[in-house]
Amino acid sequence: MEETALYPPHAGFVSQANVSGYAAYEQLFQRAAEDPEGFWGHLAEEELHWFEKWSHVFEWQPPFVKWFVGGKINASYNCLDRHIEAGHGERVAFHFVGELGDTRDITYRELLATVCQFTNAMKQAGIQPGGRAVIYMPMVPELPAALLACARLGVTHSVVFGGFSAEALRFRIDDLEAELVITADGGWRRGKEVRLKDAVDEAMQEGCASVKHVVVLQRTGSAVTMREGRDIYWHDFIAGASAECPAEELDAEHPLYVLYTSGTTGKPKGILHTTAGYLLQNTMAMKWVFDLKPNDIYWCAADVGWVTGHSYIVYGPLSAGATSVLYEGAPDYPKWDRWWEIVARYKVNILYTSPTAIRALLRQGDAYPQAHDLSSLRLLGSVGEPINPAAWEWYHRVIGGGRCPIVDTWWQTETGSIMIAPLPGAIDLKPGSATRPLPGVQADLVDLDGNPLEGPGEGYLVVRRPWPSMARTLWKDPQRYESAYWSRIPGIYFTGDAARRDEDGYFWVLGRVDDVMNVSGHRLSTMELESSLVRHPSVAEAAVIGKPDELTGQAVVAFVTLKQGEWDHSILTEELRQWVGKEIGSFAKPKEIRFAEGLPKTRSGKIMRRLLRELAVGNTVSGDTTTLEDFNVVNKLASKDED
Ligand code: WT7
Repeated sequence: MEETALYPPHAGFVSQANVSGYAAYEQLFQRAAEDPEGFWGHLAEEELHWFEKWSHVFEWQPPFVKWFVGGKINASYNCLDRHIEAGHGERVAFHFVGELGDTRDITYRELLATVCQFTNAMKQAGIQPGGRAVIYMPMVPELPAALLACARLGVTHSVVFGGFSAEALRFRIDDLEAELVITADGGWRRGKEVRLKDAVDEAMQEGCASVKHVVVLQRTGSAVTMREGRDIYWHDFIAGASAECPAEELDAEHPLYVLYTSGTTGKPKGILHTTAGYLLQNTMAMKWVFDLKPNDIYWCAADVGWVTGHSYIVYGPLSAGATSVLYEGAPDYPKWDRWWEIVARYKVNILYTSPTAIRALLRQGDAYPQAHDLSSLRLLGSVGEPINPAAWEWYHRVIGGGRCPIVDTWWQTETGSIMIAPLPGAIDLKPGSATRPLPGVQADLVDLDGNPLEGPGEGYLVVRRPWPSMARTLWKDPQRYESAYWSRIPGIYFTGDAARRDEDGYFWVLGRVDDVMNVSGHRLSTMELESSLVRHPSVAEAAVIGKPDELTGQAVVAFVTLKQGEWDHSILTEELRQWVGKEIGSFAKPKEIRFAEGLPKTRSGKIMRRLLRELAVGNTVSGDTTTLEDFNVVNKLASKDED
């Protein structure tokens, strides 16, 4: 294997780091491994505000866990009130930047006032702890405020990313039986309005019987349809509501949110996160991984619609008392230097983004970042997929000026918080490796049969012990939770990723081993796309694979067989792409559609995706095809490009 370059943090970084030097990391890691109860119990007392202390740190009945059993807590109190009580009410929580150039600074005190008004308005509307709200909003300050208001009252929220279609939204509203939908007229993206309320209306044409109230924030000011008795503007909803509202004293295990993510079937999984453990581990990640200091300006350039935004725009940073940038729009609007202009304007110290975004920015050349003063940056972060060496190098050299460590953070919607990542003042970096597990995380590799692998090697990535921020179950589906994550190796968490461990014990995540694709750092299910395609009246069968893509990591390629009839393939290609856009969301549209007379299957009828993957990449297949039903099919598919 090629020798990888080591990037030790420079002395100036190490001396100011929250965890300084390898020995300090190792000590934390050892303490957590030897005495998880003592370790997490101590941190919970130090780092969080409790109304009532827990009776024990955790209760593990595989695969179900409870953390801080019997404790009473409130996430919104921890994110807001306690900082104000400590005298930081005038600290900016969010420097908001709208895409069209409008800006607003929101202090902790102002954010609390908005949250309290919204909470009081929800109470007035008869919504109670234990209820559910679906949030479908643009990236404006009212979005984190809506999450926190739900958390304050004990309403379980589910944020639906604004790029999801009306159909996807309806599924989530119905699955949760949500009584409240919080949305906006629209938001700005690349100078155009994304019309959110229209999508809500469309979703609510069928189903959604549980919804009693739709609250609509006026963001773009465009005309929307308001249904009498059900729909109300945000400002009318909170009109007259008091800006003071005590936080509910909730159980440590109170369900904080459900976030849907793709699995290996056609149906998305509702990942359930609860309160105290989730909050604690994300608070620690802010300090350990992002090396957050009280005066830092921090920017996670993700969308609140994904788990990265939940943990590292809302709950982690606010619980840690951070000042963040919140940007509504696209990195290329109006030009490709928008991010660099924001970094320079707010003197951002910590920037967290994805390899896909880094590659897109890199393609535009160095002139855009070089036109701005990026010297405020101290630390850079990456998440969503492995970062390729070229992107790493550019991020490090051009954006970080060669002085900023890059924290490559491996984690998942299910893990709730960062699991494998370098503590930047303690761990030497290797470009492309997420390096070592965080304190309290027992990451390991196993073989196909679940046997542990010792030392260097490749295998399935698993986590051996429960951790505070882990998903507790799948919404209304504990059985699927058990079978998806805990049945391969009983009692051990199966991540769905393969990884390599090198001679230094560093982890290199290789990618998914299940039928899940990773496109632009977003998870897409092959099954979900296939079921969508076969619902189209002209489609007989569909098989979807992820093909390596220079920009998006993987790109969706769909192999489709059609029903009897005369079809114009070029018209149908566009129609099927639109179809998927409508059923799931435009980010899920296949990049390429190949029409075929048959799909390669095993004798038992299982589609051989491995062959399709090889076909999509190289137009040939190699390896074992002995279980293939009809080799002719492969030959025909391979020649498809020529017609
Ligand atoms: C999957 C989880 C966690 C927020 C974003 C994605 C891949 C994530 C890395 C990384 C290599 C990574 C894995 C994982 N992944 N981060 N730093 N290096 N792979 O959340 O949609 O739940 O996807 O993303 O394959 O299983 P998600």
